Amino acid sequence: MPISAKKSGPFCGEIITPGDKSISHPALIFGAMARGTTSISGLLEGEDVMATGDAVAAMGAEVARDGVGKYTVTGVGQYGLRDPAAPLDLGNSGTGARLLMGLVAGQGLSASFDGDASLRSRPMGRVLVPLENMGARVSGAAENYRLPLMLSGSVPAIPIDYPMPVASAQVKSAILLAGLGAIGTTIVRERHPTRDHTERMLAHFGADIDIGQEGEDTIIRVSGKNPLSGREILVPGDPSSAAFPLAAALLAPGSDLLLPGIMINPTRAGLLTTLLEMGAEIAFLNERDAGGEPVADLHVKASALRGIEVPAARAPSMIDEYPILAILAAAATGTTIMRGLSELRVKESDRLEAVLDGLRVNGVAARADGDDLIVEGCGSGAEIPGGGIVATHMDHRIAMSFLVMGLVSNAPVTIDSAEMIATSFPDFIGSMRALGACIEEGDTGS
Ligand code: S3P
Repeated sequence: MPISAKKSGPFCGEIITPGDKSISHPALIFGAMARGTTSISGLLEGEDVMATGDAVAAMGAEVARDGVGKYTVTGVGQYGLRDPAAPLDLGNSGTGARLLMGLVAGQGLSASFDGDASLRSRPMGRVLVPLENMGARVSGAAENYRLPLMLSGSVPAIPIDYPMPVASAQVKSAILLAGLGAIGTTIVRERHPTRDHTERMLAHFGADIDIGQEGEDTIIRVSGKNPLSGREILVPGDPSSAAFPLAAALLAPGSDLLLPGIMINPTRAGLLTTLLEMGAEIAFLNERDAGGEPVADLHVKASALRGIEVPAARAPSMIDEYPILAILAAAATGTTIMRGLSELRVKESDRLEAVLDGLRVNGVAARADGDDLIVEGCGSGAEIPGGGIVATHMDHRIAMSFLVMGLVSNAPVTIDSAEMIATSFPDFIGSMRALGACIEEGDTGS
């Protein structure tokens, strides 16, 4: 079903955004592996995370829902999980699939993994090759380690010393997870920092983890000797989800919006850094710690943005935010150059192509130069033309980005489907409507 967004706003008041996806997955997984109970509040109840909850339940952990975002996971302790009876279906979720592969490899389990068409097309070799080095066996994989496949862990797993060939938190996390079941110390060497939620959460769960620096590299060591014990986890607001209402408020004249409890971990804050450089008025209020993660209330006011160059080194800290940054860049004055976006091509869709196509059908000049994305801003005073129908390729971030575009463009913007938004921000449309956004089913016929 197509959905259209048309010019609305100002967006004022407050919006509660869902719990962080990258923290919700490991909260369930570590809870399942720990001894004792883990109480989670603020869990993202999106389809991706629910699939991970179903997977750990299928392996013998008890996952109970106590209320909205409130879960109790009764863990089984080191080596206590069992092989799932049926294939694990991770739907659209790369994080769920890759982290659970680390779990299966480290806990000596055998499991079949599958997912939707998008997940079946995504690279898994980046995770499976190091897990094979740790003794796991892969069988039945489609060409080039694609899903569906079967993975069997060795007992015990073999510790490895792994310099990361790609900047990926999921690869790092899968190896660390497998390392929890190895005898000895598993080492991950990271040249380009990626989100560090797994490391923070492992320390919180009582794992024997050590993080140091050797020259340019961050060295993460985890030993398998120290089993985890159940903990309380407060999942902070997801900055990747918050980015959408935040962008709408920056672009709709007269907006003044508060986004409480958003995680501002530096490994995730690249978009905020970029927006401040572009001239955005964003205040960080009430900065605090929530369960080992830095959090703030973000107060955003409509701002005139100017184009800038975003360095490639910043990409890992804002990798999921480039689609919405491209919309912000389209409304800015001048040109925005986003460098080093090769990883965007292997997300839920080829996000570089999807963004380019979406911008062009809405009258925005944009081009790719290798792995760089260049967007010509429509400038102050002028508006994004809009009026296009955007192919989302069933990608939630493409869908939300172009709905935001429709809220601030001259003519409405239609997306071909909003279904996948449920993977990461189930109430996105309801929350935006509550702020006054005009988002309607069907093609409003721009
Ligand atoms: C994620 C890491 C990123 C990101 C994804 C979530 C995570 O992927 O794009 O949405 O939860 O660790 P990579 O680690 O592959 O860069």
